[in-house]
Amino acid sequence: MRRTAYVFAGVLCSMAAALACSSDSMTGGGAPASANADVDFVAQPSDFTCILDWTNVRAFYITNKSGKVTEALAVANSANGGTYPVGTIIQLIPQEAMVKRKAGFNSMTKDWEFFSLSPSATGTQILKRGTTDVVNQFMGNCFDCHKKADPKFDMVCENTHGCDPLPVSDSVIHGVQQADPRCHD
Ligand code: HEC
Repeated sequence: MRRTAYVFAGVLCSMAAALACSSDSMTGGGAPASANADVDFVAQPSDFTCILDWTNVRAFYITNKSGKVTEALAVANSANGGTYPVGTIIQLIPQEAMVKRKAGFNSMTKDWEFFSLSPSATGTQILKRGTTDVVNQFMGNCFDCHKKADPKFDMVCENTHGCDPLPVSDSVIHGVQQADPRCHD
């Protein structure tokens, strides 16, 4: 029985070689768009570009690197929230990002990977990436704040989803967004 299952899986894998049974070849920056929500997205420094080029929703900027911008925007614009598709990147400021990994990546963070970034005119350096252990430049733990968001909003805080507020004003946030060093030649 076990052997049958194994052989069957092997046949499926060789049939699906083009779709890559080994997920390694499907991960990484610029992974091709895929209809398969189970294909992971592992962000690379080059995936973090000028946030002003992405879609602005209320205070934040959002994109999707797995060809699911429409689906991601539908969640962002829904009063009922929802679960963001794999490959979604959301940023409030150029220095921080949350990236949606595939289902099962981390149940505590609802499969979000948190990033502390150092953007510059020449590109983006990833200072720290992780789940429950990433802190921002004020030594605030991303997960500790974002976990307080109403569950239906998939860890997205905004001003109204129940998170502790950031210690900076809206106008400061706006200024930091506009000053994204990657947006200026
Ligand atoms: C003190 C609590 C706190 C900490 C710590 C914190 N955040 Fe947030 N974050 C917020 C709040 C509140 C907002 C919404 C701000 C707004 O809309 O004006 C926000 C907004 C965001 C957004 C835009 C989407 C959203 O949730 O509204 C992203 C992305 C984000 N934070 C990522 C991070 C990352 C990554 C870290 C760690 C490196 C981090 N945050 C640390 C509270 C926090």
